[in-house]
Amino acid sequence: MEEVDLLIINASQVCVIPGASGPQRGATLGQLEVVENGGVAVKNGRIHHVAPSAELQSRYVAAQTIDASGRAVIPGFVDPHTHLPWVGDRAHEFEMRIAGASYMEIMAAGGGIMNSVRQVRQASLDELVSDNLPRLRRMLAFGTTSAEAKTGYGLQTASELKQLDAMLALNAVQPLELTPTFLPAHAVPAEYRGRTDAYVQLVIDEMLPAGAAWMAQHAVSLFCDVFCEAGIFDVPQTRRILETAVSLGYRLKIHADEFEGLGGTRLAVELGAISADHLVKTPAEDIAALGQGSTIAVGLPGTPFGLGHQEYTPARQILAAGGALALATDLNPGTCWCESMQMIIALACRYMGLTQAQALAAATINAAHAIGRGHEVGSLEAGKQADILVLTVADYRQLGYQFGGNLVQTVIKKGRVVVGG
Ligand code: NIG
Ligand code: FE
Repeated sequence: MEEVDLLIINASQVCVIPGASGPQRGATLGQLEVVENGGVAVKNGRIHHVAPSAELQSRYVAAQTIDASGRAVIPGFVDPHTHLPWVGDRAHEFEMRIAGASYMEIMAAGGGIMNSVRQVRQASLDELVSDNLPRLRRMLAFGTTSAEAKTGYGLQTASELKQLDAMLALNAVQPLELTPTFLPAHAVPAEYRGRTDAYVQLVIDEMLPAGAAWMAQHAVSLFCDVFCEAGIFDVPQTRRILETAVSLGYRLKIHADEFEGLGGTRLAVELGAISADHLVKTPAEDIAALGQGSTIAVGLPGTPFGLGHQEYTPARQILAAGGALALATDLNPGTCWCESMQMIIALACRYMGLTQAQALAAATINAAHAIGRGHEVGSLEAGKQADILVLTVADYRQLGYQFGGNLVQTVIKKGRVVVGG
């Protein structure tokens, strides 16, 4: 008998969700490889073997065993687009939106992103960490074991770097792993109002090099993201920022087509960005480009829902074109304060036309690829990090169908039980 650290046995289903070498594209999205009456052997924090339970029990002895009778086992969710960390809230702006003001009107009047920027600039690093820690713990309890996190509430060099430092500090004190993204071009700060090109120049001359120095200092790689949107940064400005970022060693992401389709998605594909995110008003030409390129489309259905809009990412067209699709929360205090990938799956099933299997693969393996971690997390393939969820239910198809609660009973991160038991 071989010794392992942890054995999960008797699971009604183990969903492997294969794809370590690349995302599940187009019609292949939703391949789960379900092992019935299955189990998982974990060794040294990694997935050692997934097989029928009886086979595992005949081959392994374990220091710890979890009996998952009547419950399904899936990979930990990966949330590839959040705006963590922030402080404070904007509940009064939500009230203004209910009364009829639009998100862009509130932003143009000096609220919106700038409102959170003022709060983050004033916060100390310790406050940024302590305010976001409970949020990460709730995300973990909802089954998110890895997430992306963005700057963009600093919009000046020191405050942007403070957000990056907060991400590293958060990684050091709790199990959910944050992958950092640098987003100094999230909005034009108040002090540059009406001088967008001057702010773009500051991003290029000062902020991107400062982020690159931070990368070298901490031996951590960064994505660079831009909010490419009418009235924020146009396509030529976005191109300048992203091309500079590539030359400094960043990998690329983009916010595109959230309110208007400007061609940002096309640009992302052309520049080889790892993902293009939001994609609500995406033109047909850009959808076709996604089918040809390697850029992953990240749908954020919590955002139109949060804004009370009716239009969502055209997932079926993207898949029909052969594109790769992932799901994320967009967790932020303005448009979408949603900490649960389970809620995002529920929205994607209803408003993006995904089956539960497609949504689950988009929220795990494809989401992992959207942050460059598909070789490491997002599936239960042997050799990968043992980030595993035991659900409260026997069938993964309860995900998305039931919503508003929590179907995750046990969360295992790097082979260790971190939530439940
Ligand atoms: O993804 N689009 C830009 N950024 C966020 C909103 C951020 C905010 O309002 O604070 C988004 O929706
Ligand atoms: Fe966003």
